[in-house]
Amino acid sequence: MSVLVNVREKARQAKRKIVLPEGHDERVIKAAAKIVELGLAVPVVLGSTITIERMAGDLDISMTGVEILEVEKAANLEEWAAEFAKMREKKGLTFEKAREILVKEPVFYAAMMVKHGEAHGVVSGATSPTAQVIRAGLQIIGTKPGIKTVSSSFIMELTERQETYGEVILFADCAVIPVPTSEQLADIAISTVETARNIAGIEGKVALMTFSTKGSADHPDIDIVKEAGKILRERNVDFQFDDELQADAAIVKSVAMKKAPDSPVAGHANILVFPNLAAGNIGYKLVQRLAGANAYGPIIQGLNNPINDLSRGCSADDIVDLVAMTAIQ
Ligand code: ACO
Repeated sequence: MSVLVNVREKARQAKRKIVLPEGHDERVIKAAAKIVELGLAVPVVLGSTITIERMAGDLDISMTGVEILEVEKAANLEEWAAEFAKMREKKGLTFEKAREILVKEPVFYAAMMVKHGEAHGVVSGATSPTAQVIRAGLQIIGTKPGIKTVSSSFIMELTERQETYGEVILFADCAVIPVPTSEQLADIAISTVETARNIAGIEGKVALMTFSTKGSADHPDIDIVKEAGKILRERNVDFQFDDELQADAAIVKSVAMKKAPDSPVAGHANILVFPNLAAGNIGYKLVQRLAGANAYGPIIQGLNNPINDLSRGCSADDIVDLVAMTAIQ
């Protein structure tokens, strides 16, 4: 069964409330209506009611079942601005600035809704940069107990060569941490295994990748990846993994037999942890474009409640899919 069919089915059962802060975007309005139609979640769209209803009317779309909320008129705005300012007091955030952020960057208000249990998750980024969406999560929601690192993964659904490489491989981190430490690489591996279980419905086998396989090269960057493997061993994690694997050793059986014959995952890894953001971001885009794989994500991992980021080039259908994933995260 395709990843999306599975995700949609689980989302229907979860019946979550998901906030879409960019309500003045046509794609968001179309997506909200479709989410109601498909029964994937209860969408809450932030923005001016008059503007959203006019735009929906122009598009001949019914907003029945979509909740619309105007941040500037919200009864709790002053209270939440005071709370946000208090949370960021040490960083010099004043009440006035906090209020301005909640109104002008509504993903922060959406994060407050989730923090206060008024919604289950947020999907944003159709009109705002990735960093803004992640910052709202970091500053307002914070990390899960026991997790120090917020990272991301992509679920890559292969459309060709599935018999060789399987249907689904997860790539991480492709969107958040520019230069991860060994500790952070270990956290990325742990969080991606959880994403694989919850969203892709698969048991993860992790390859911590770099440009050498089992001693074929020597460099401080390789040591960082080897150290991440050591940390996972010390943490006694409940999944299979190996460190210091090149991409071919990680996924190609014949190469793995030559380069890493004793590895528990080489040749059949289904979670590829990249050594840094440049490699991860370039890697997923190449596989998406050259191999025609479907790339679902970035799924933000490690936050106490889900906030997920859209590409600014996304379609209404991309928003619908990410809402369904957020609902089951
Ligand atoms: N995990 C946990 N905590 C973090 C992380 C993280 N990954 N990153 C920052 N923090 C902490 C900060 O240390 C800070 O702590 P403090 O308040 O105690 O000082 C707190 O979270 C708030 O962080 P900010 O200062 O608001 O954010 P920061 O300036 O550190 O930036 C960000 C974080 C936005 C994630 C940055 O690392 C970034 O820009 N990453 C790249 C995003 C990007 O452009 N991706 C590529 C495009 S995406 C795509 O192509 C799909």
